[in-house]
Amino acid sequence: MTKRALITGVTGQDGSYLAELLLTKGYEVHGLARRTSSVNTSRVAHLVEDTHAPDCRFFLHRGDLSDGGRLLSLLQQVRPDEVYNLAAESYVGASFEEPEHAGEAAGVGAVRLLEALRMSGVGARFYQAGSSEMYGAEPPPQSEDTPLRPRSPYGAAKAYAHWLTTTYRESYGMHAVNGILFNHESPRRGEVFVTRKVTRAVARIQAGLDDFVYLGNLDAVRDWGYAPEYVEGMWRMLQADEPEDLVLATGERATVRDFVAAAFDHAGLDWEKHVRFDERYLRPVEVDALVGDASRAEQRIGWKPEVRFAELVRIMVDADIEALKHEGRHWIDRPQLPAWQD
Ligand code: GDD
Repeated sequence: MTKRALITGVTGQDGSYLAELLLTKGYEVHGLARRTSSVNTSRVAHLVEDTHAPDCRFFLHRGDLSDGGRLLSLLQQVRPDEVYNLAAESYVGASFEEPEHAGEAAGVGAVRLLEALRMSGVGARFYQAGSSEMYGAEPPPQSEDTPLRPRSPYGAAKAYAHWLTTTYRESYGMHAVNGILFNHESPRRGEVFVTRKVTRAVARIQAGLDDFVYLGNLDAVRDWGYAPEYVEGMWRMLQADEPEDLVLATGERATVRDFVAAAFDHAGLDWEKHVRFDERYLRPVEVDALVGDASRAEQRIGWKPEVRFAELVRIMVDADIEALKHEGRHWIDRPQLPAWQD
């Protein structure tokens, strides 16, 4: 029998890769996307095209996590076997400016979905997109046994959703898990995140369209993996016999400066000539170092990332150089984001 999945946040980087993965596995995929007056479905447009075809297995539904009634009716309509909650405002920097919104979307939104799932009686397995940002001030390496000490409104909201997911699992016997994912990137990464901001700037500087990119803290340490591999991990987590929270990470540490240097170097450029400091990109408090230990995921679900830091940098820089060539004026007319959007 065809399995059905519901993905919230389907228009994001992870949502689009997960939808593709599940379609290749034969699933019928239903995605929840926010209603906006301008088009926000570019990452899944190639999947939507065939909606009216008799063999179509990808369906977009309008709605968001602010409306519990909508979530309940959608669950009753779709009757999914698996629910992946990937919806949130995922840019940590923005959560300091709009902390209530961060709590609404990443925290309370998850609980609305859990409660709608419980009330619907549908009995689907539930995946909650947790984040290494929840570890905050705890030093690396971080694993499933590391206490959560968030340092941003976003991290605190994710921690709330993490504990509520655990509570629903323990209270109602739901097959509900938290995936604690370290940073994962790709050419589909949003332009405000540091990796994509840098690789996009490298492409533009190489093409002579810009001279500089403005960044904040270059000393932060992160563990950057490749997003398509991480969505495979999400799926594997829901196939396990017993629900269990797991860390997904590469275990490889690199600073923002390392990423910048590698990206410029790959394009034959000297980063020190093109990177400028702008204090607007500093956060009120920084999460200094996130480096994950994913050995439990390897042991329990056989998940092990193949793409390492150097290859990830190459994939992203090459993709942005290619995109710039092909998108022509569209790209040229869209310079780097103004600071208030970044
Ligand atoms: N975005 C951004 N822009 N970050 C900068 C900049 C800049 O101009 N300059 C320096 N940084 C530093 C940030 O201060 C942070 O330490 C690091 O680069 C990474 O920032 P982001 O790429 O914005 O990612 P993040 O680590 O804060 O959060 C990401 O990873 C989490 C998992 O740990 C996001 O994807 C979260 O949604 C995710 O949960």
